[in-house]
Amino acid sequence: LKFPQHLLGVKYLDRIDIENIFSVADTYIEDIKYKKAVKKILSGISVINLFFEDSTRTRVSFDLAEKKMGMDVVNFISSNSSMSKGESLLDTVKNIEAMKFDFIVVRHSTPGIPLLLSKHSSAKIINAGDGTNEHPTQALLDVYTLKKRFNNLENLKVCIAGDVAHSRVAMSNILALLRFNAKVSVCGPASFIPKYLEGMGVNIYTNIDEAIRHNNAIIMLRVQLERDAGNLLPSLNEYNKFYGLNEKRISINPKIVIMHPGPMNMNVEIDYNSSISKNSLIFEQVTNGIAIKCAILKLMNEA
Ligand code: CP
Repeated sequence: LKFPQHLLGVKYLDRIDIENIFSVADTYIEDIKYKKAVKKILSGISVINLFFEDSTRTRVSFDLAEKKMGMDVVNFISSNSSMSKGESLLDTVKNIEAMKFDFIVVRHSTPGIPLLLSKHSSAKIINAGDGTNEHPTQALLDVYTLKKRFNNLENLKVCIAGDVAHSRVAMSNILALLRFNAKVSVCGPASFIPKYLEGMGVNIYTNIDEAIRHNNAIIMLRVQLERDAGNLLPSLNEYNKFYGLNEKRISINPKIVIMHPGPMNMNVEIDYNSSISKNSLIFEQVTNGIAIKCAILKLMNEA
């Protein structure tokens, strides 16, 4: 079975593709955890990390995974590119295309830019987050982290809590978890929960205490203030009071696993003690993300 040429979204991946990524990630994870070198099997293959939106985890972990694999890596950050002199996105991309990269990892605030690139570029495209659409590599590392903890994802109860409406992570995670027949729910105020989710078989909680009580894991989402999410709330303080994760809420279900894709808005959707509690896999997610990226690059190179 052939792995897809591009990684544009979880919606284009079958369960077998995801299982394939997880199996290959398993061959990298111990070396990454214990700071051992991995085989540079992608030596001579070039990649540009094309970021038109800010990033810490995704950009740095792609950069690291690519270098571990031996790739020729170029990092492009739009704010210090010739776009500041007025060059358009189209011209920027045409010039990058002329440099004949093998891979393009792209993040952009507009949904569909990775898909557009895949139609006009000879490079293999990886979506590192496109607006409110999808963030497939985040979902893959999240579901991999859950699989490592629980082993079996079938019927695992996972709630995605917070600003679902603006979240590309939420949609990618819902799609990935449903591929494994997990029981997926979302939690948040009505203004943060798109109505169409019920039609996808996703349960909806409006009370976070109930969501914590009835789930094995909760993925907390950032309130996306840069996408005007604050306008959908009376105030951030009130949001924290009704939906913020804290130690008192964790005590409702002391076994609950806590995740967050980052970056975290401290004391909005989560507090510091919850983020570092024994329930938290937040930093394990980041480590696992490197193994997932190594696996994706290997499989796409072979595709
Ligand atoms: N989770 C995530 O995408 O984080 P960054 O925006 O820092 O890459």
